[in-house]
Amino acid sequence: MAVQRTLVLVKPDGVRRGLIGEVIRRFERKGLKIRALKMVWLSREKAEEFYSVHRGKHFFNDLIEFITSGPIVAMVLEGDEAINVVRLMIGATDGRKAQPGTIRGDFALSIQDNVVHASDSEESFEREFKVLFTEDEVVPPY
Ligand code: CMP
Repeated sequence: MAVQRTLVLVKPDGVRRGLIGEVIRRFERKGLKIRALKMVWLSREKAEEFYSVHRGKHFFNDLIEFITSGPIVAMVLEGDEAINVVRLMIGATDGRKAQPGTIRGDFALSIQDNVVHASDSEESFEREFKVLFTEDEVVPPY
C-alpha cells in the first residue's frame, strides 16, 4: 500500500464538451481524494514546460496548440497507488484503442483530443505539479 498523488487535467476538448463533471464523478466514486482543483488557461510557455518530455516529437507543436486552445481543469488526486489506478481509469492514449469503460474509451475518438491527461510516474507528477500548483493550493488530507 502506497498512497500517491497524481495530477489530472480535463483537456480543452473535455471542457468544451461539458465533461468536467463526468470526469470528476468517476474519480470521486473510485474513492480518490481531490486535494487541489482549479480551472486555468495555460500560456504557451507553461504548456511547453508541462509537456517538455515531448519536445522534439512530431506532434509537439499540435499538442501545444491544442492544450492552449481553451481552459483546462487541473486537479491533484490522492489515493492508494493513485498513479496507476488513474492511468487504468483513463485508458490508452489513443481514444480509438482505449478500452470501453475507461474515460478515453467512452469519450474519445482521437489520439490528440483525448479528454484527459494523467501523470505516468512519480517523476512526471513532481514536474507537472510544479507547473500548475504551489503546495499552498493543496488542502490537507481529509
Ligand atoms: P497525454 O496523456 O496528455 O500525453 C501527451 C499527449 O500528446 C497525449 O496525451 C496526446 O494528447 C498527445 N499525443 C501523443 N501521441 C500523439 C501522436 N502520435 N499524435 C498526436 N498527439 C499525440
